[in-house]
Amino acid sequence: MSSLPEPVVSVTRLSKVYHSGFRMKRIRALEDISLEVEKGEIFGFLGPNGAGKTTLIKILMGLTEPTSGTAQVFGRPPRDAKAKARLGFLPESPYFYDHLTAREFLGLAAKLSGVQKSEAAGRVTGQLRLLRMENAADVQMRGFSRGMLQRMGIAQALVADPELVVLDEPMGGLDPIGRKEFRDIIVDLRDRGKTVFFSTHILSDVEMICDRVGIVIAGRMVEVGRLREILTGDVESIEVTVRGVTGKTQKILERVSQHSLKSGDELLLTVRSEEEVDRIMAISREVGGIRVVGIVPHRRTLEDFFMAHVAKAGGTRD
Ligand SMILES: Nc1ncnc2c1ncn2[C@@H]1O[C@H](COP(=O)(O)OP(=O)(O)OP(=O)(O)O)[C@@H](O)[C@H]1O
Ligand SMILES: [Mg+2]
Repeated sequence: MSSLPEPVVSVTRLSKVYHSGFRMKRIRALEDISLEVEKGEIFGFLGPNGAGKTTLIKILMGLTEPTSGTAQVFGRPPRDAKAKARLGFLPESPYFYDHLTAREFLGLAAKLSGVQKSEAAGRVTGQLRLLRMENAADVQMRGFSRGMLQRMGIAQALVADPELVVLDEPMGGLDPIGRKEFRDIIVDLRDRGKTVFFSTHILSDVEMICDRVGIVIAGRMVEVGRLREILTGDVESIEVTVRGVTGKTQKILERVSQHSLKSGDELLLTVRSEEEVDRIMAISREVGGIRVVGIVPHRRTLEDFFMAHVAKAGGTRD
């Protein structure tokens, strides 16, 4: 009998209510969230500020308890030592012993993560190279820039070569080059069969590397799935450029389109479907002297999707 492989991360109907302040005001941080992450996936947990991303990650790391529902890592409760030993974690606001040098700090992280003494120095050097921190390896972290500290945070999460990497806003503080390097590191982890779960509010980073995303807004999961499926076939409009257009043909063509813009002898037509593009092509074949010179489909981007959902949920909560 064949059985499906156990998901690396499994969250079922998870809710979390915080009680805050003197009046113990109830804050619903998560409501009925379910998701699974398979081995070898890059999963992006996407949402605006205050959506509940850190709360879910804290539950997965066993740092806080859910109010209801269950979370499992490698099929075990998050606090289970065997589950913990197989994962690396970058918290949202990591604490650094800043009197240590980069090398000492990573050495400590390796030791705490159970890396064999004989392997530790090699692992540390490997991470310093990977995160391009070699030049600062023996400098105390006290004077490090935000981006350098973020690199150290990522390095300590990876130093024990864990099977699962959980990163809360890993791209915060990184410049565009740092983000590109980070994406390369994450894709390389996946190529080596590792599983990556990270939170972000930056759409473009998710769009580029994630196999699947979960979109969380105001504590609710509004969508989980492959990006291509979430945005599937969402061609919002198609722009067709026709050259050689005169007054008479312009009128005929405009009847087919939703919007038009004339510039010299070129007419830019905006249509909604491929059938309308076909009609424009047919007209241009029938009428002499005009030619279709460009067809550009405008797909719905993740940003459009995100904005539409945020608007529906009434904005962010903070
Ligand atoms: N310890 C806490 N006590 C009370 N309320 C909390 C606590 N932690 C988080 N919250 C509230 O729960 C909600 C979700 O917060 P969370 O930190 O999980 O969001 P987030 O998606 O990580 O946001 P950000 O993008 O700003 O990091 C927010 O309304 C927040 O104010
Ligand atoms: Mg957060």
